[in-house]
Amino acid sequence: MELIFRKSWLLVGHQSQIPSVGDFLLSRMGEDQVILSRSKDGKANVFLNTCRHKGMRVCRYDEGNTKLFFCPYQRLVVRPERRPEGGSRKGELPPSPSTARTGA
Ligand code: FES
Repeated sequence: MELIFRKSWLLVGHQSQIPSVGDFLLSRMGEDQVILSRSKDGKANVFLNTCRHKGMRVCRYDEGNTKLFFCPYQRLVVRPERRPEGGSRKGELPPSPSTARTGA
């Protein structure tokens, strides 16, 4: 696993799968689940589907459209175009993905 998935380029998806800003889908890089998403600047981004605090999944849908992802435990917000933002914003829940299908 280490030799194959950590040392070479991997196909996690195609740009045509996320045509609009906010579109996302889940994919895999070896054993790691990643999110491929289209940010506001129109770029495709790939990042681990975990919060930086304790590794909780920030996305529980296979695909959809959203402006941000958040940790359900302590609400660390992850924006596709930026590094995760620290701290919780109690009482301020981000919107759910609008066209998401239930994932795992
Ligand atoms: S466990 Fe995810 S932000 Fe703390």
